Amino acid sequence: MSKKNKNIEEFDSFHIVVFGGDGDLALRKIYPALFHRHQDGQFSKDFKIIAITRKEPNKTLFSRELIKFLKVSEGDQTKVEEIEKFANQIELIQVENQEAKSYVHLSKVLNENPHYQHIYYFSTPSSAFGPIARALKDSGLVNEKSKVVIEKPLGHSLSSSNAINEEISEAFKEHQIYRIDHYLGKETVQNLMVLRFANNLFERAWDSEHIENIQITVAESLGVEKRAAYYDNSGALLDMVQNHLLQLLCLVAMEPPSVLEADEVRNEKLKVLRSLRPLTKKSVQTDTVKGQYTRGTIKGEQVNSYLEDIEKYQSKTETFVAIKAYVDNWRWKNVPFYLRTGKRMIKRYSEIVINFKEVRHNIFPSKEKLNNNKLIIRLQPEERIELVQMTKVPGPGGYRYKPVALKLDYSDSFKDRFPEAYERLIIDVIRGNQTLFMRQDELQAAWTWIESVTESWKSVNQANILYEAGSWGPGDLILGEDESWITKTWKEQ
Ligand code: BG6
Repeated sequence: MSKKNKNIEEFDSFHIVVFGGDGDLALRKIYPALFHRHQDGQFSKDFKIIAITRKEPNKTLFSRELIKFLKVSEGDQTKVEEIEKFANQIELIQVENQEAKSYVHLSKVLNENPHYQHIYYFSTPSSAFGPIARALKDSGLVNEKSKVVIEKPLGHSLSSSNAINEEISEAFKEHQIYRIDHYLGKETVQNLMVLRFANNLFERAWDSEHIENIQITVAESLGVEKRAAYYDNSGALLDMVQNHLLQLLCLVAMEPPSVLEADEVRNEKLKVLRSLRPLTKKSVQTDTVKGQYTRGTIKGEQVNSYLEDIEKYQSKTETFVAIKAYVDNWRWKNVPFYLRTGKRMIKRYSEIVINFKEVRHNIFPSKEKLNNNKLIIRLQPEERIELVQMTKVPGPGGYRYKPVALKLDYSDSFKDRFPEAYERLIIDVIRGNQTLFMRQDELQAAWTWIESVTESWKSVNQANILYEAGSWGPGDLILGEDESWITKTWKEQ
């Protein structure tokens, strides 16, 4: 039953038209997000959800799938009924191809409510973005109030990303385009801005004078699942670093915007991306590692190698990448940002660790090493902030100290339902707030830097280091050979 929540802002009536409307992303993320917000009582005005399918629509199958993705606990008949009711409000429309006559039915339905804003969600391969945008425009379905939401991968290089953008911008202007990076919708990621800019404590020490290094890790225990074809053309660098990890880096490294407005925030992120030091033939060999998983065991279960997963004899695609990156600006001079991500790692966890420098002078008699302070921001699976500080061990023995963490667990402090990233992002689209979406110039700057990695890898023919599924990744394997950054910094803090 939907209920009213006083923290909820109202917004105009809308149509949301999901292309790829019976696909995995739509069922797994988009409709559940809309369902939850509907349940929270956020849709006070009229709305209509339209799922575009290429095949003949099958409503019964669709509702069944939706129930499955909404993970209703067994026996919860009330929930099942609510989902069924919600699913019944979703209209399935077949659009076979991008010719005008395929859009006749959709036009008719949209024109029934001409005052609604139209939100087009392209949950399809990016090769379809341009043709769909053109067909919508040619069918007269794009107006000043229309918006388009696009999902990654937005190209596989700077030029292909620009080409996609050009096609879309023939139908939509920049202020109508919402480029989703779901990491920006995660509560803990948004909290980064609050942590930095609503507390006086940290920002004072947020620079190269006080910080030794910053580590951004997104480890996954999953493999490539059913996305072999897509993944083998992208790899960890394009799938994760180009978007999610660089966005996290931006939020950690950017200057405070003067107000929390979309372009102010995006201007600051853009400056960070443009300050990233390009990798060269020389630095790529010392400052990056790429790897690929072999067979192994995760949580007691045997899992396949990457090559078995993608059913190929060989592939140069990396499933792990680690990069020592630098932001060449005043604040971050020579502070390494370690970016790491991998599939089939020992466990799933994402975190940002800010490692502070040692105190300038140790006054204590034992001269035992004073561990550095650390601020650990755990993004998932738990949401937590830890501030690790040296603390006196009570009792006799003089000044003995050890690192102890002050912990803030989100689940202890905030008891409400923890919303999924897509909820916040979709609601922001409806409301017209672009703060958490990438602007085209940000995307270009991210691609420019990423190409410095891909081009350098290509020119030195950098090989993957194999690592066993269920391990900490290639860091373990090169222990001894390279005692520096990769081995010391990879493991969980
Ligand atoms: C997606 C990547 O963008 O993010 C996937 O394409 C990855 O390969 C996923 O598994 C990780 O997202 P999350 O929210 O589970 O960390």
